[in-house]
Amino acid sequence: MIRGVIMSETYFVTGGAGFVGSNFVRYLLKNTAARVVVVDKFVRTGSWENIAACEKDPRFSFFEVDTADGRALRAILRTAKPTKVVHLAGETSVDRSIDEARIFMKTNVGGAFEVAQQCRQVLSTYDDDKLARFSFVHASTMRAAGPVDANGEALGPTSPGAASALAAESIILSYYRTYKLPYLVVRSTNLMGPWQSPERLLPLVVARALTGTTIPLYGDGSARRDWLFVDDYCSGLLAAAKRGRYGAVYELGRGEPLSSREVVAKVLAAVEAEKPAAKNEAMQLAGYTDYVQLVTDVDDRPGHDAAYRTVSSAARDELGWRPQKSLEESITKSVRWVLQNQPWSQHIVEQSGWQGERLGLGIAPMDSEKRIAAGSPPSNRPIVP
Ligand SMILES: NC(=O)c1ccc[n+]([C@@H]2O[C@H](COP(=O)([O-])OP(=O)(O)OC[C@H]3O[C@@H](n4cnc5c(N)ncnc54)[C@H](O)[C@@H]3O)[C@@H](O)[C@H]2O)c1
Repeated sequence: MIRGVIMSETYFVTGGAGFVGSNFVRYLLKNTAARVVVVDKFVRTGSWENIAACEKDPRFSFFEVDTADGRALRAILRTAKPTKVVHLAGETSVDRSIDEARIFMKTNVGGAFEVAQQCRQVLSTYDDDKLARFSFVHASTMRAAGPVDANGEALGPTSPGAASALAAESIILSYYRTYKLPYLVVRSTNLMGPWQSPERLLPLVVARALTGTTIPLYGDGSARRDWLFVDDYCSGLLAAAKRGRYGAVYELGRGEPLSSREVVAKVLAAVEAEKPAAKNEAMQLAGYTDYVQLVTDVDDRPGHDAAYRTVSSAARDELGWRPQKSLEESITKSVRWVLQNQPWSQHIVEQSGWQGERLGLGIAPMDSEKRIAAGSPPSNRPIVP
């Protein structure tokens, strides 16, 4: 608890029960004196457990709300009168976006519009001082820019999820350009850290290693990504909310991209250091002696982005942002958290109904068994569910 400080800012955080959201809420409560008002609908990865501990802090309040519900958002915004909005609610899994594009459009595009619009309306009730302190940060991803071609030019979105992310960014930036509102965007690449969905690469690799089951590596494992610890993304969001240039698109990256084969190897090395394969009963029962033996190449994701070009110079120069954690430290800390929180992971898996099956092949759930039996569609043919 920070004492003797005037509580001047109020943050309104959407998606605050998700991976980034819950980390960001904790980051705010720890590093600022702000009040934090959170909304979330508990969709799949979002869970009350992720933020339950924040309830002890009197500056924290929570509302179970869908970002599509303009009336509910308006009521909360009118009462809370936030000075900062950080929009994190969204559907984020690329694989799921390939299978269930509609919900991505509804949540990511419709949700961004509704939150942006309701904020615009509440701003009309603000006095000049409060208006001058207001900013709206939209959390986005490098997928919105898309992969780069041989000349380093970004090609645009390659999946429905990425398209919805770019559409959401466009809505936010249009509010800056049209209404001159203090709205901006912060993109990042891949994140790791506590409370990350068990469907994501790092927690998935750890869980599979623990249980001695195969670890799927998409394509030839050569897709490259830059990785950040989630707190480093949170510090970027906070810096952008405090001093970001309105209408800007900031990109956060470490500048050390790794291939997915390399990152899986590093994660497995971190698991080995904490729980050696030789002492893992599940590995012995499955007949494996080394975690690396679990890695299995599988068909690539349709439209899998090979690499992004993350330009973080504006974030570094204008926001003074720098990642604080090295890659090795980020991996070790994330792996330890997953190892120590398996009951949480199991609960999230049960809540989402995911049973470890391959997602993102573009197969409608109703037809999936038939299609799997028929084999994967050739990559140059349209994928029709
Ligand atoms: N995870 C990453 O690697 C990463 C990287 C870069 C950017 N981001 C961005 O950060 C944001 C959050 O990502 P995340 O990884 O925390 O995702 P997440 O799935 O863990 O969290 C999303 C949260 O949004 C909530 N939500 C979904 N639909 C909602 C709705 N209709 N109304 C209210 N709440 C709803 C969910 O309940 C969940 O709590 C996204 O915008 C994403 O693009 C994430």
